[in-house]
Amino acid sequence: MAASHIKVTPTGASLGAFVTGVDLSKPLTDEEVAAIRKAWLDHLVLAFPDQPMSHEDLERFTQYFGPFGDDPFIAPIEGHPHIIEVKRAATEKASVFAAAWHSDWSFQDTPPAGTILHSKITPPVGGDTLFCNGYAAYEALSDEMKAKIEGLKAVHSAALAYAPDGVYGKGDGSDRSMTIKASEDALNTKSHPIVRVHPETGRKALFINPGYVKTVEGLSDEDAFFLLVELYGVTHDERFVYRHKWQDDMLLMWDNRCTQHMATGGYDGHARLMHRTTVAGP
Ligand code: SIN
Repeated sequence: MAASHIKVTPTGASLGAFVTGVDLSKPLTDEEVAAIRKAWLDHLVLAFPDQPMSHEDLERFTQYFGPFGDDPFIAPIEGHPHIIEVKRAATEKASVFAAAWHSDWSFQDTPPAGTILHSKITPPVGGDTLFCNGYAAYEALSDEMKAKIEGLKAVHSAALAYAPDGVYGKGDGSDRSMTIKASEDALNTKSHPIVRVHPETGRKALFINPGYVKTVEGLSDEDAFFLLVELYGVTHDERFVYRHKWQDDMLLMWDNRCTQHMATGGYDGHARLMHRTTVAGP
């Protein structure tokens, strides 16, 4: 039976769609999973409003799209080793977590294919998540730039965020409510092609992000800096960005292989709580 009851409504931005007509608190049929996977590959970010879900529902939904990814540096919630909390208390003074453009865990040998975020407490103002479209950014480059970056590899590392002297290391605000475990492991590096061929769609996307990319193999740090700044200028151009506004009990899933995202603040004085899982890369 085709999953014709599932309705996919594009956001109108360069990426993103809302999905309705499916209840994620119940097991899904193969047809429903296939329809959601197709919509995910087509739209890169999917938002499912009005989906109250238990931890078990979130775990079951995640595993329709692959095995769990490996989530370093952040302690999972008790009894659920694959769910982490992205949270900020109403009184918290620590910086907003993940408020810089990144693609989740891009420094890993095999970064996660996808991330799933389920909103539990949504502030009345602020707390949006921004996404940008790595396919559209690549396609907007000049032929000259495409030729220049073909075959180049970016060097990814978690150091800026998770090393002992990183943003979430020793000097971090003492009132952070998330349990982040900064470590020397964050100093490891892994290179990935700047132009990534998506393993499922076959389309080329820019696979770089300022959160985790340190430099470019074979270039001086200065040349790498200017190249990356130029590429970020295109990737983060508003033409290719979708600003997601949350409601309680909304589930979002995004494709890390062809997008970047960042959290935003603007909700001091209000709590925000999300539960997050990752889907392992191929
Ligand atoms: C994340 O990058 O996983 C968190 C995004 C958000 O809190 O909006």
